[in-house]
Amino acid sequence: MSGARVSSHPVVNQKLTRLRAQDTGPAEFRTLVGDLALLLGVEATADLPAAPMTVETPLGPCQGSALKPSISLVPLLRAGLGMTEALSRLLPDSDIRHLGYTRNPETLQAEVYYAPTPPDPAPDLALILDPMLATGGSACAAIQTVKDWGVGEIRFLGILGAPEGVAALASAHPDVAVHLCGLDERLNEKGYILPGLGDAGDRQFAT
Ligand code: PRP
Ligand code: URA
Repeated sequence: MSGARVSSHPVVNQKLTRLRAQDTGPAEFRTLVGDLALLLGVEATADLPAAPMTVETPLGPCQGSALKPSISLVPLLRAGLGMTEALSRLLPDSDIRHLGYTRNPETLQAEVYYAPTPPDPAPDLALILDPMLATGGSACAAIQTVKDWGVGEIRFLGILGAPEGVAALASAHPDVAVHLCGLDERLNEKGYILPGLGDAGDRQFAT
């Protein structure tokens, strides 16, 4: 499994266009990140296994289903915070395990500043949430941490990716599915995605 699954949903494309616009302010930006996370979350979980279960409606029994895997949401601080509420609404039985990475602006290397105690037992599935996949350094480091927890399956959910980041992830972690709302042209010399949307953390939090 390598390469990214990029959404072709017209609503995703419209919201992503608005997200990129430089006149989109922080409040609208946060709303759009949440909307896109929800739409992407639906696409990225379409094949999750389910088990049959019976529910009693007011009129009698009904055959329904329940999701089988235990799931952890793993938002990468800070920018991944904006995707968390939408995913936890979609998957209300999941727990949330934040990881803190910041990209060194000189070296572009991901530096860890927050890592919680590993979950015990490890979940069946972890969804890593980060709007931006640029060099792929943050995503690769986070995936390695989550693999060290002993998680069965990992999926990466991002809003915008660069080919360089997708390639880095496919090379280091070919077993991890990558779901994106959009895939851009390239990185600039400072590691920013072009044409991109700027700094996803700063635009969400008005910093
Ligand atoms: C941004 C973004 C990703 C990372 C992507 O985070 O949210 O985590 O850069 O870049 P990479 O693929 O080259 O690692 P940043 O370090 O700016 O921190 P922030 O979320 O606190 O703004
Ligand atoms: N992080 C961002 O927030 N934006 C980019 O374009 C690259 C990394």
